[in-house]
Amino acid sequence: MELKFELKCSLKTSTDATKAADVVGAFINEANETILTKGAPEGQGAKVTQWSIEGDRIKLNVESGRHVRVHDAMLRMRKPLAGKLGKEFKIGIRGIEVESFTIEVPSEKALAEMKIPYVTEMSYDAGAIKLVLDVDEAAMSNRIPDRILTLMEDKIEQLSYGGKTEHWNVLWQSEKKEHAFSEDPTKAMMEAGWIKRGASRGQWVHGPQSTKMFRTFEKIVLEELLEPLGYREMIFPKLVPWEVWQKSGHAKGVYPEIYYVCPPKTRDPEYWEEVIDHYKVTHEVPTALIKEKIGDPIGGMCYAQCPPFWAYLQGETIPTDEFPIMVFDRSGTSHRYESGGIHGMERVDEFHRIEIVWTGTKEQVIEAANKLHDRYMHIFNEILDLEWRKAWVTPWFMAQEGLTGVSEQTEAGTTDYEAVLPYRGEEAEWLEFQNVSVNGNKYPSGFNVKSQSGEELWSGCSGVGLERWASAFFAQKGLDPENWPEEFRKRVGKIPEGVRFL
Ligand code: SER
Ligand code: ZN
Repeated sequence: MELKFELKCSLKTSTDATKAADVVGAFINEANETILTKGAPEGQGAKVTQWSIEGDRIKLNVESGRHVRVHDAMLRMRKPLAGKLGKEFKIGIRGIEVESFTIEVPSEKALAEMKIPYVTEMSYDAGAIKLVLDVDEAAMSNRIPDRILTLMEDKIEQLSYGGKTEHWNVLWQSEKKEHAFSEDPTKAMMEAGWIKRGASRGQWVHGPQSTKMFRTFEKIVLEELLEPLGYREMIFPKLVPWEVWQKSGHAKGVYPEIYYVCPPKTRDPEYWEEVIDHYKVTHEVPTALIKEKIGDPIGGMCYAQCPPFWAYLQGETIPTDEFPIMVFDRSGTSHRYESGGIHGMERVDEFHRIEIVWTGTKEQVIEAANKLHDRYMHIFNEILDLEWRKAWVTPWFMAQEGLTGVSEQTEAGTTDYEAVLPYRGEEAEWLEFQNVSVNGNKYPSGFNVKSQSGEELWSGCSGVGLERWASAFFAQKGLDPENWPEEFRKRVGKIPEGVRFL
């Protein structure tokens, strides 16, 4: 079974076209050998298999495979044919009317039933999925059929992989270490009164002791990495509208994991009076009523942290000597709707992260990533004394779009930093506690940022997850400063007292 497109349609003419039959016939015969095969491998172009003229309709059946698809064939034919009919018969072409549009996509298995825009029917027979499309001329010239084909082929590929397999390839590993601690650090921190569960799902309240640890981690990153390398602090927005995620690619896959944001339909107090009164009388928040009074989601809460930064550079042409631009943000939380079940601090719905972002030429971006790797190596070996490793993984910018595999450009991609959690064991899954990524030209191109030199811009980012650092560090070292490396103890100073409870 081969991929097959079939289109039945009419070209609507300004007047009866019967008298032009010979010219139309000659045009189609020639087109079948020329414009409908141009660019396609031998014998694989589109073909008009049948035609007729009925009054002011030139009816056509067109078939094709992957190359010069039927809708492209129509677009290729329309203008030259209109030229001929206009010149010789004063007949104009008014538009294309689609009678039927089908695609047969080879697949070893059927796909589960699903709703896809423009697809009115989907069936499986003899090694192919058959799709019936309801498309008009505008949809055809907007390449809707092509996007539907790509979507189907992605789904078929996923089906034969049997789910998603993440790419993982170890790059570097520290020596094995003896660990002074072998318990679950979240439990230990709770018992010591450092943290308490927050009221919301996967959320923690950090007491003064835990907060001091987070601030110490930040101080280490500032003093050992950001300041020496010359990064400048910025404040990135934390509510991310769809426009940003459309440009960053997140709009392709992030839906199961975001916290959605809906604004009120109006801020008129009268409009909300019913909700307010309901609460005052029942002491219950009327969420169903609230749902009616809020607008559609405008986006979600901060998820990947770097995408909203790009609004700052969006549409700009930047002097060549500004590059590399190197900045970071630590101005707020990130939010992910994590999988159910109870997790410790290593898997949270609300977390704190320093997000480091840089952009410049490809060489500048790769060099900046290498410098970060060097500084991280120093921090994890000399200051935190961790047992850890680095792995080349499916880039976050692909994973967050729901893709698997590796980046097309070999220099672009994500390195994950992982630490062993002794309470889980050396053989169990290690904890990803941060990453460094070279993101290729994806962001400058998605947000239309240009260098004055005209040279292609690349970018990179690195997320330092403080909950993850804490989970890794305290899992290996425990909470007793006696067991902490001297370099860390020096930087923490005195741990503040927590609040006592009766
Ligand atoms: N933006 C990157 C991520 O979400 C790095 O923090 O993983
Ligand atoms: Zn990022």
